[in-house]
Amino acid sequence: MEGHVPVLAEETLRFLEPEAGGVYLDCTFGGGGHTRLILEAADTTVVALDQDPDAARRAEAFTNEFGGRFQFRRMNFANLENLKEGPFDGILFDFGVSSFQLDQTDRGFSFRGEAPLDMRMDPESGRSAADWLASASRQELIHALRVYGEEKNWRRIADAIIEARTRSPILTTKDLSDLILSCTPARLRFTSKIHPATRAFQGIRIAVNNEIEVIELGLPAAFERLKPNGRLCVISFHSLEDRIAKNLFRRWAGRPEPGDNRPQDMRETKATLLTRRPETAGDREIAANARSRSAKLRALRKADI
Ligand SMILES: C[S@@+](CC[C@H](N)C(=O)[O-])C[C@H]1O[C@@H](n2cnc3c(N)ncnc32)[C@H](O)[C@@H]1O
Repeated sequence: MEGHVPVLAEETLRFLEPEAGGVYLDCTFGGGGHTRLILEAADTTVVALDQDPDAARRAEAFTNEFGGRFQFRRMNFANLENLKEGPFDGILFDFGVSSFQLDQTDRGFSFRGEAPLDMRMDPESGRSAADWLASASRQELIHALRVYGEEKNWRRIADAIIEARTRSPILTTKDLSDLILSCTPARLRFTSKIHPATRAFQGIRIAVNNEIEVIELGLPAAFERLKPNGRLCVISFHSLEDRIAKNLFRRWAGRPEPGDNRPQDMRETKATLLTRRPETAGDREIAANARSRSAKLRALRKADI
């Protein structure tokens, strides 16, 4: 297993500007790549969250290495209001799944190999992908495939799932991957750059983990937890994730959101944007880490209020 390489590492540090004595919150610990950067950049303290029990196990090594400078809480960042630590000098989100989760076949995130179709980042809460597929309405299936997965073949795949589940439940990653392959036109099966099940798996994973809803809850709660002049960095991989960050950042920076025609001085300014356009990975990073290809980083500094 290769582990997880933190994306946009240099850019994250540039915008977060960790300082000695500062207290930082990493809402998506994963393999701790970004947490380590913050801990090693200066004499900082990091509180890190992750809902995945495997991430909690990886965090133990950080506790041993960094002692009191590192604390881990296993929780969903949607529940940030329950976090007793804070306020923070900087907060980071790096959305989605980690390479650990994708590579560990038995978690059910990957269409490679055969495993129970789970896909939950927190396997102790919510419904597995198998359960979700057994009961999702046609509309929910279509939304997951088309909007979350950006899958062009959404209609055929949704109908194939509905038809297949009347015969027998879709229980494993192979069941689902074979089903998707069976409705992929032969000309695309071998020519597509990505595996034909990639997008559908992504869409179903986003639905199973409520990934969009938790971002809508987590980002405003994080903003509230920032100290005056504190920095917020958000790394997204999907246009829907980025859109939520973009619109909230615009609102906090007093910029008009779509449909807001009020004069500028009627809008409250609670933050300064540090990135006008999102930062993206350069060619060298993309060559070294394919995951960085779709990464977008937005950053802001909270006003001194
Ligand atoms: C892309 S990885 C983060 C990788 C990390 N920045 C690193 O460099 O190692 C995302 C991690 O966030 C966790 N995660 C995703 N959504 C979460 C949520 N709503 N609450 C808590 N953890 C979440 C996942 O379990 C995963 O471990």
